Amino acid sequence: MTGRVPVFAIDGPSGAGKGTVSRAIARRLDWHFLDSGAIYRAVAFAASRDGVAPEDEASVVALAKNIELQFSSAEIACIKLDGVEVTDQLQTETCGNIASRIAVLPAVRLALLQKQRDFRRLPGLVADGRDMGTIVFPDAQYKVFLTASAAVRAERRYKQLIEKGLDVNLTSLTREIEERDRRDQSRTEAPLRVAEGSRLIDSSAMSISEVIETCLSLLTTA
Ligand code: C5P
Repeated sequence: MTGRVPVFAIDGPSGAGKGTVSRAIARRLDWHFLDSGAIYRAVAFAASRDGVAPEDEASVVALAKNIELQFSSAEIACIKLDGVEVTDQLQTETCGNIASRIAVLPAVRLALLQKQRDFRRLPGLVADGRDMGTIVFPDAQYKVFLTASAAVRAERRYKQLIEKGLDVNLTSLTREIEERDRRDQSRTEAPLRVAEGSRLIDSSAMSISEVIETCLSLLTTA
């Protein structure tokens, strides 16, 4: 049955605007939304909370299988981990970096596969991540690979974090983004790559609304 539920997969490197764009598309279509990065971040957060090293595959897998995650559907943005709200804690660069370290572990990816597929429900799903169109929903009806130059992505992320009142440094942020790209692209399991049938969008010189409209045009041209 789930094969019939439409999926709009949006993949790309961190800071390309996937989060904003995919949430906006989910709202416009009134579809469900999967922030798969938040799932990896939640496992990373739980590992730090419990003193588990990101390289300890067996313990991270046990956490991935056992954590209870709740995403509020009304506001999309609120995430609870084992009953405790962790929305803001998941957004830190430290959490993102640990997430990308646990994301290289094949057994962790496997443990999270079904949790992600369970989001596929009528009337449709907008799925944001790195392997939505390649591994998790290879049969997605609509696929976009959203990217931007590392410098533009670092600048956007810098502004977001400053607005949230966080203390960040642009040079180290750029370095971290490049390091995370390298790790996400070079891992053997589900590396970040453009899925077959994907529309490639470079948002470096585009506004968010231009990106959203370009994505939505796929629904009428596909
Ligand atoms: O998208 P976000 O920055 O929240 O993702 C955090 C990290 O989780 C990424 O750098 C990536 O290593 C990992 N991730 C992944 N597969 C996904 C989503 C995120 O490997 N589908």
